[in-house]
Amino acid sequence: ERVQVGIVGAGPAGLLLSHLLALAGIESIVVETKSRAHLEQRIRAGVLEHETATVLRETGLGARMDGEGLAHDGLFLQFAGAAHRIDLKALTGRNVMVYGQHEVVKDLIAARLEDGEVIRFDCADVAVRDIDTDHPAIHYSRDGAMHEITCDFIAGCDGFHGICRASIPPEALTLYERVYPFGWLGVLARIPPASQELIYAAHDDGFALLSMRSPQISRLYLQCPPDADAADWPDERIWEALDARLARSDGFRLTPGPILQKSVTAMRSFVCEPMRFGRLLLAGDAAHIVPPTGAKGMNLAVGDVRVMARALERYFARGDEEAIAAYGPACLRRIWRVQRFSWWMTQMLHRFEDDSPFDRRRQLAELDYVVNSRAAATTLAENYAGLPMDWGD
Ligand code: FAD
Ligand code: DHB
Repeated sequence: ERVQVGIVGAGPAGLLLSHLLALAGIESIVVETKSRAHLEQRIRAGVLEHETATVLRETGLGARMDGEGLAHDGLFLQFAGAAHRIDLKALTGRNVMVYGQHEVVKDLIAARLEDGEVIRFDCADVAVRDIDTDHPAIHYSRDGAMHEITCDFIAGCDGFHGICRASIPPEALTLYERVYPFGWLGVLARIPPASQELIYAAHDDGFALLSMRSPQISRLYLQCPPDADAADWPDERIWEALDARLARSDGFRLTPGPILQKSVTAMRSFVCEPMRFGRLLLAGDAAHIVPPTGAKGMNLAVGDVRVMARALERYFARGDEEAIAAYGPACLRRIWRVQRFSWWMTQMLHRFEDDSPFDRRRQLAELDYVVNSRAAATTLAENYAGLPMDWGD
């Protein structure tokens, strides 16, 4: 089999890339190890930057998002028992959309399957070959048979643990990494959100986040040890910890309810440079990870594949190799600015075990400054609502 672009991974990056390429008349096939049902139920990120929502809308994917998604004009930072609103809309003119990543994935899968069998789910033994030639190939097995797809380019969109980055000779890559000494325990609960807008809370017990998926479903996160096991967190322990960290002196309290799902996520900052080796281009979590505190992971993946789709369009229209070479550098500038923001939010809001009392007071002073200075609040708001795209030209 032969295709212009072979895509490894059907997460937001791989699926949106395939969708954008199709709109430009470029053929692609997406190879994925998991089942369609698994991808459509995997609860991950929940906040779409203004520009991410706009791209989905402008490419025909906005109907369910605009119907079921929740547009948020602000968020709360909470510390010392009080919540302070950051008015994203007033400070930046933009808002964000709360709409689950798995819903975006559902919409993308439905749109792509209209073009036929372009997504191959349930593949095993996925490998990329000949990536430093002009005929790179994806190999996989499915239903007991081996398959090969020869491509002009391969897009490595297979996430942090995928095989694409690992197929590049290590000496060709520089990896930048910071691992945080905590994780997040995330829960999905059948209770109406206790707040209309997200609450990011810094508490002496650790960070907590109140988010949501719908008017009936809340999404909550708790800072926990990095190696925590969700099995050690019975529902009562989770509600007790959340209630302690989110309670306020104005009487705000959480009402416990049924927990539908819980899982622990490790926290790291990671960047791989460059984002290309020969005819293999990396995008999304395959190339970089941010700690989730700034809600940037999925948005960065979307930014990457927008730049990649345009570079590939130029390549297929007029053989523009320069556009391919410019892809990574254009993305990396934005990626590093988003890395900085995600690190900044993380260090400001979490409890670090070896922090001194001085560090703790400095952290509270930083929060106090951010919520009381229009300049500082604007800095947070413009990053949170989303930095402008950087196309590298
Ligand atoms: P992914 O969504 O990881 O997609 C990669 C795809 O490749 C997957 O479908 C995977 O099954 C597939 N794949 C892997 N290996 C292979 C292979 N060998 N062959 C073929 N396919 C393969 N971000 C936030 O902002 N907030 C959050 O709360 C948040 N929570 C998260 C929780 C978890 C457990 C994880 C892992 C990430 C979370 N993120 C969060 C980050 C955000 O979800 C990611 O940044 C986003 O999914 C990146 O999209 P992607 O398409 O690059 O990668
Ligand atoms: C969600 C996740 C985040 O990392 C974040 O910063 C805000 C919201 C969420 O899953 O709803």
